Formats: sequence, structure tokens, C-alpha cells
Amino acid sequence: MKIKSKVLIIAGSDSSGGAGIQADIKTVSLLGSYAMTAITAVTSQNSTGVLSIVAISPSEVHKQINFTSKDIRPEAIKIGMLGNSKVMNTVLKSIIRLKIKKIILDPVMVAKGGARLIDRKSIKILKKKFIKNVTLITPNIPEAEILTNQKIYSKEDMIKAGKKLLNMGAKNVLIKGGHLKSKFTYDILLEKKKISVFKNKKIKSNHTHGTGCTLSSAITTYYSCGKSLKKSCEKAIKYVNQAISNAPKYGKKHGPVNHLNSIYIKKSFK
Ligand SMILES: Nc1ncnc2c1ncn2[C@@H]1O[C@H](COP(=O)(O)OP(=O)(O)OP(=O)(O)O)[C@@H](O)[C@H]1O
Ligand SMILES: [Mg+2]
Repeated sequence: MKIKSKVLIIAGSDSSGGAGIQADIKTVSLLGSYAMTAITAVTSQNSTGVLSIVAISPSEVHKQINFTSKDIRPEAIKIGMLGNSKVMNTVLKSIIRLKIKKIILDPVMVAKGGARLIDRKSIKILKKKFIKNVTLITPNIPEAEILTNQKIYSKEDMIKAGKKLLNMGAKNVLIKGGHLKSKFTYDILLEKKKISVFKNKKIKSNHTHGTGCTLSSAITTYYSCGKSLKKSCEKAIKYVNQAISNAPKYGKKHGPVNHLNSIYIKKSFK
């Protein structure tokens, strides 16, 4: 199989394999691209929660990004958990210097089980500096609420928050709807002059650990291969939907999705 593109993932490790860098590598690989990594933190977790988080030093994160990209230049970068403000500033400087045009940021703040994964100073940097320097941000509903200081109860509220984020300097925004209390999930993409709503039936399942990481990695992979942002989101949402439907039912609580369930997707992705 010919490799379609090269993707650099900057994110934290999830020892349970369902989210974080592990989910990212599986997704990028399964969709046919080459995955490289810069690890920002090491977490010990399982489907019941996060036991501990150890941050990697900013200089080590910087080296992973730069030394790797100098040799094998990625077409796109996916950024996940950054953890603290020092790592965040370092990553920001590194990506600006690299001048790679396609960057997807998943502004990870809270884990599925409720553990807070970011400090207040980092949220400020995210809002003031980071969101302006990436192509797309993909907050879930609680994250969009924190970033915009507004509550989100409906599809309309999601659009309002998305517009606020565009006004704050984001180039494009995908607000993920997994957390909305509804029979359907709405993922809403706001580009400068276009709003696209992706509607799906909500699957009743506890096995949705890592859906957000998986989605942003799938978007990055499709986008790195030249698909439009809208098409990349549409295809990535389908990939995640199938991965949830076919979850292996591992673990006692929030188990992982099935990243390997991409046979149909691969066929339609030329
Ligand atoms: N129960 C579900 N049924 C169908 N799709 C879902 C379900 N839960 C989440 N999704 C989809 O998964 C993707 C990720 O959304 P979600 O809101 O779960 O992100 P997240 O909270 O960042 O996830 P994570 O737990 O990985 O941080 C979206 O495309 C969303 O629509
Ligand atoms: Mg998330």
C-alpha cells in the first residue's frame, strides 16, 4: 500500500490505548498515512479514569517537533493535549517557525471521566494566541463553553459559540456535539462564510473514550491528502461513527472505540 501523506501528532500518551497519541497513531495509520509524534505528557489511565499525568519538559517537546520535522516534513499537524502553559508556548513557537499550513487543534481540557487536563493560564494562551495560529479548532461542548464563557444547550447555542470563536480569531471551528443531550449528534463546522451541520443518530454506548482524539486525527489525515476542510470533517465523522458502532466493549466504564473498523472508509477514500 502506498502511503498517502505524512502527519505529525503533538499530544499526550494514553496508556489504555483508546485516546491520546495511541488513538492518533492508529487513526492516521488506518487511513493510510504516516504518523510521527511529539509526546507532551505521559498519562496512566484506564476506562475508569486518569490515575496520573507527567508532563514532558518544553525543551524535549520542542526537540521532538523540530528534529523530526526537519528530516521528514509533515503535510499536516494534529495537536491534542498540551497540558500546561509552558508546553503550550513552546509548541506555538515551534509550529509558527515550521510554517506548515495545515494545523488542526483539538483543545483538550477535560477527559471523558471528568479529569481536568489543563490549567487556567493555558486556557488564556489558547484564547489569546493559539487559536489564531491554526487552521481549525475542534472543541467539544464543555470546551466551547469555557472558551466562549457561554452555556450551550442546543444546536443554535453551538452556532452562536462557533461564531464567537471566529470573532476571537479562529480561522475555522468544528464544535463537536457528543455532549449534547439529544437523540442526535450535531457536529457543526463554521468556516468564514459557510456553516455546515453534520447530523447523526446518537449511539447509546459507554464506549466512546477517545472519540475526540480520533476525530481530529481523521480530519487531519484527510486534510493532509488534499480534501477540503468540509469533506475532511464529513469523512472523519463517518469514520468515528463506525468506530463507535463497532467498539470492542473493553474496560469497565468508558471503553475505547474500534479504530480498525475502516475497511469501508478506505475503499471510498481514493
Ligand atoms: N454516542 C455517540 N454517538 C454518535 N456519535 C458520537 C457519540 N459520542 C460522540 N460522538 C461523535 O464523536 C465525535 C467526538 O465528539 P465528542 O463530543 O465526544 O468529543 P470529545 O468530548 O472531545 O471526546 P473525548 O472523550 O475523546 O475527549 C463527534 O463527531 C461526535 O459527534
Ligand atoms: Mg476531547
